[in-house]
Amino acid sequence: LNKVYTLAIESSCDDTSAAVLCNDKVLSNIVARQAVHEEYGGVVPELASRAHQQNIVPVIDVALKKAGINKTDLNCIAFTQGPGLMGSLLVGGSFAKSLSLALDIPLVAVNHMKAHILAHFIHEEGFDKPTFPFLALTISGGHTQIVKVNSFFDLEIIGETTDDAVGEAFDKSAKILGLPYPGGPLIDKFAQEGNPKAFPFTKPKVNGLDFSFSGLKTQILYFIQKNVAQNPNFIEENKADICASIQHTIITILMDKLKIAVQETGINQIAIGGGVSANSGIRKTLKEAESKYGWKTYIPKFEYTTDNAAMIGIVGYYNFLENNFSDSKVVSKARIEF
Ligand code: KG4
Ligand code: ZN
Repeated sequence: LNKVYTLAIESSCDDTSAAVLCNDKVLSNIVARQAVHEEYGGVVPELASRAHQQNIVPVIDVALKKAGINKTDLNCIAFTQGPGLMGSLLVGGSFAKSLSLALDIPLVAVNHMKAHILAHFIHEEGFDKPTFPFLALTISGGHTQIVKVNSFFDLEIIGETTDDAVGEAFDKSAKILGLPYPGGPLIDKFAQEGNPKAFPFTKPKVNGLDFSFSGLKTQILYFIQKNVAQNPNFIEENKADICASIQHTIITILMDKLKIAVQETGINQIAIGGGVSANSGIRKTLKEAESKYGWKTYIPKFEYTTDNAAMIGIVGYYNFLENNFSDSKVVSKARIEF
């Protein structure tokens, strides 16, 4: 088979996404975002699964049409098995299983966190693919990991958060500042106008390659409460500087651990992935690390950083090539072994 058409479905959290790939090229990558959660200040699982059920058929339909293929042209179905919200995962998983049965084509169950990393192997003009082995920093709303990637199928977590994920650190800080959910992108936006050294926050002391972000959140909360008590307009008057300082602290925590990981493994190829890798400060700092530390860094195309089905599809394609298929009894998993 010289053309493998993969349909991929991602439904782990609050975005319903479907993509069609021809080999390692993306023909379509459709994401339906769920606005319902904004007014609640976070993802409401029950509403998320209902919205997935509503969106899944139209999203897949659009993905097939945009790719210009029929469902009978498909060779493989890939779906997100986990980790994620159970009710959300079940919608995508059940749909993928039914479609694979109806079309009589193989099914590949994909780990969402591995997909954030392997998204770097999507063929895109102007984007290099990393070579094995490399280090991946995966930073999202639910995870913060440093992973040693030995091959498509051999990935090893060498560091991870012991409490909050980086995305939560951004979103919870934003909430303290009165910004709407998800606040990460807003902190990024305001930080661009601010002084990153205006308010020094202390970094947590965590051994080895692990991370901790819950202390930072508490520190920011007390800092804001103390200053607002003295000046009710403190946040408004210093928004850019506060955001820049928070972002700078988070980036320094990440970079300090990456430096140790490079030293310990002797690997200086670094790829980032996950929603937080959309952050402009993180992207800039990693680019600068190429000349500063002699690293080779890989920053994915923006649309492949936040949750999307194309990254699930590329994992599906590489498994298809190896005949690594899931059987029809495969189940969704909220937590999943790496
Ligand atoms: O990977 P993702 O789309 O979903 C999860 O699997 O969690 O990541 C979402 C997270 C949210 O916490 C969001 O605030 C954060 O990524 N995020 C950002 C930026 N864009 C998205 N955080 C900081 N700066 C950004 N530009
Ligand atoms: Zn994600």
